[in-house]
Amino acid sequence: MKASFYREQVERVVQMVKQNRGDESDHMDTMPVASLIDPQRLQLEQGMFRQLPLLIAHCSELQGAGNYVVRELDGRSWLLVRGKDGVARAFYNYCQHRGTKLVQDEKGCKNRFSCPYHSWTYSSSGELVGVPRADLFEGINKAEKGLKQVDLQEAHGFLWLTQDPQCVQPITNYFAGLNDDLEALNLGSYYVFFDKTRRLNANWKLPIFAFLESYHIGTLHRNSIADFFVENVALSEQFGPHIRSFVPRKNAVELAGVDLDQVNLSEYITPTNILFPNVCMISHPTSYSIISMFPGQTPGTSSWRHQLLVPEMPSTEAEHAHFAKTVAVLDGKTYEKEDFWVSEQIQEGINAGAISELTLGKNENLIKFFSDTVENYLPSNT
Ligand code: FES
Ligand SMILES: [Fe+2]
Repeated sequence: MKASFYREQVERVVQMVKQNRGDESDHMDTMPVASLIDPQRLQLEQGMFRQLPLLIAHCSELQGAGNYVVRELDGRSWLLVRGKDGVARAFYNYCQHRGTKLVQDEKGCKNRFSCPYHSWTYSSSGELVGVPRADLFEGINKAEKGLKQVDLQEAHGFLWLTQDPQCVQPITNYFAGLNDDLEALNLGSYYVFFDKTRRLNANWKLPIFAFLESYHIGTLHRNSIADFFVENVALSEQFGPHIRSFVPRKNAVELAGVDLDQVNLSEYITPTNILFPNVCMISHPTSYSIISMFPGQTPGTSSWRHQLLVPEMPSTEAEHAHFAKTVAVLDGKTYEKEDFWVSEQIQEGINAGAISELTLGKNENLIKFFSDTVENYLPSNT
């Protein structure tokens, strides 16, 4: 992304770095820990996840007709497949005969999906096209026995799934205010270089909290990325429930007075989009991290998926080594061993009863904003 796209924000960030002071609220705050340990609260949050569009795959994963991926959400398996007509669809990944999970592998390319139980067969657009011994099902209306479909939209390089048919909304409405940014990132032309899902012994919101403040960079990340960043300085803006933050690198002041059309913003400032409810989209100088959080079966567990998107798949050993190093430093160290590690430490302290409220400095106010937004989006409050 050219720095000139965010000219106004760049100027503000440079001023902030010069003054060594970022966005701050006018007061400190506290937050009870109940939302991180209460099973009833978890149920409401799972309900919220069913009502909102969720980033479920990168469009490169479903490029051609018959390409499919299987994704699990909250105990439900989803089959995403691109039909011969070019349309990407999402189905409950369960056979309409007696309910067997239809596709067992994670991805592939097929135009027919046959159930492992009795071989009912479905097309890539979900129609029931084959029933062995069809004479035994006289009177069946095949048109009503297609795979059960839910809303799937393609936008900004990703596929967005909404589980609850009553809650479908156009993606561009949902990202109002951020659509131009997301389009300008052009992530649809990228490729998935790295993709890993892990379980975490921490509530799904805790790692997001870590992406909402830069207060911890100098301490937690002292052995990884701290040397690159200015601590405690960030510029943040809210777009409905979504947040965009700019965290300056130490060289950000060099942006003063240069031609911003000639500059790659991410070499000086790290823009991060927190796409509500669960995606952290972090820009690096030559790649993007897409981190998605999903609630687990208990309040103190979750899973996280990290996809590293690169502009072109590496074709030389040197290019491959470059992105492999990015994965090692960011995924293996900064995220897994630091941000996600500390989230488990926090959950352990909360579970132990050692802390009844989180204390938030003036520079950590986005955590309160995010938590309040979750609260407002719970099914009981909408
Ligand atoms: S359950 Fe799928 S064919 Fe019988
Ligand atoms: Fe961090």
